[in-house]
Amino acid sequence: MNKINELFEEAVKISENAYAPYSNFHVGAALLCADGSIETGVNVENRSFGLTNCAERSAVFTAISKGKKEFKAIAIYCRDADYPVSPCGACRQVLSEFLDKNTPVYFAGKTGNSKTYDERDISF
Ligand code: THU
Repeated sequence: MNKINELFEEAVKISENAYAPYSNFHVGAALLCADGSIETGVNVENRSFGLTNCAERSAVFTAISKGKKEFKAIAIYCRDADYPVSPCGACRQVLSEFLDKNTPVYFAGKTGNSKTYDERDISF
């Protein structure tokens, strides 16, 4: 299995843990670290919605907390979207702190019963 598929597998799996009772929009993110390991994160909402932490930020914060600071790619999976949803401004800002300009950001949504991965680069 290639690394991108592996990343999406992890993102899909972890999206089950998303805490999204307000939007019902569950997101999982998997971050490929320079050492080949994968760190994951989910969106964690709050009744004060602005305090929500998106999945990709959770993954970055987890990796940084574990001392991992260099990243090769990130995959973001939106389980409840037919089409990929791109990261919000706050996440782009956080990703830009740690990812090189040419580090790929993959995001995917689900169409019907089959998963369709739409991969595209985000330029900061
Ligand atoms: N969300 C993410 O976690 N990542 C994204 O890239 C898009 C949006 C979350 C935030 C909120 O909990 C829910 O999805 C609806 O916006």
